[in-house]
Amino acid sequence: MSAAQSHPVFARLWTLASDGDALQRAREDLLRGVQGRGLEVGAGDGRGFKHYPPTVTELVAVEPEPYLRRRAELASGHAPVPVKVLAGTAERLPPVEGDFDFAVASLVLCSVSDQARALTELRRVLRPGGELRFFEHVLATGPPVAAAQRWLDRSGLWPRLGAGCHLSRDTLAAITAAGFQIQSVRTAQLGVLARPVPFLVGRALAP
Ligand SMILES: C[S@@+](CC[C@H](N)C(=O)[O-])C[C@H]1O[C@@H](n2cnc3c(N)ncnc32)[C@H](O)[C@@H]1O
Repeated sequence: MSAAQSHPVFARLWTLASDGDALQRAREDLLRGVQGRGLEVGAGDGRGFKHYPPTVTELVAVEPEPYLRRRAELASGHAPVPVKVLAGTAERLPPVEGDFDFAVASLVLCSVSDQARALTELRRVLRPGGELRFFEHVLATGPPVAAAQRWLDRSGLWPRLGAGCHLSRDTLAAITAAGFQIQSVRTAQLGVLARPVPFLVGRALAP
């Protein structure tokens, strides 16, 4: 495991801070109705596992950060569906049997080092017509918040605090550019540093 994938401070803070009602409701919404074999990239500490419905036959959860991965392994023990936790990144998935029915990215495409490569990998392992479910924060439409988001990214401040997270990515465009067909997107405003920031919850299909 490379040092670049180990973020001990962020990992512990995320574990403490990411259990709010709004985030849990969004994760629940994100996973409603998924079925069959699934792959979740950047599964974090596995707190999303409890929202997978019983229609899921197997979940492969990929997590690069060692502390979060250990927590995810613990969470897999009481998940309602069978979960296998693996080390790896979205850009370079571990060897997995492909043809997944669905893939999940929850607050991850903001952090991957190469969005296009990560999305190409997800497309590669999904079966034709397989679903990508995504929950991601994106650039605000209003100038003051968008300008602050761009500045925080450009200055390197936010990526350093957030273990590679970026606030100003156009993730929906990246998903489309990777060849996915957007089926539905809902926008929710959630607070980041006391400012409302748009979060997208959506579904897209692999060609
Ligand atoms: C903000 S956390 C979200 C965790 C979890 N998905 C959730 O909803 O709580 C970002 C996660 O993405 C992971 N991550 C960062 N870079 C990644 C990459 N290149 N590939 C896969 N996961 C990555 C981090 O280790 C972390 O678990």
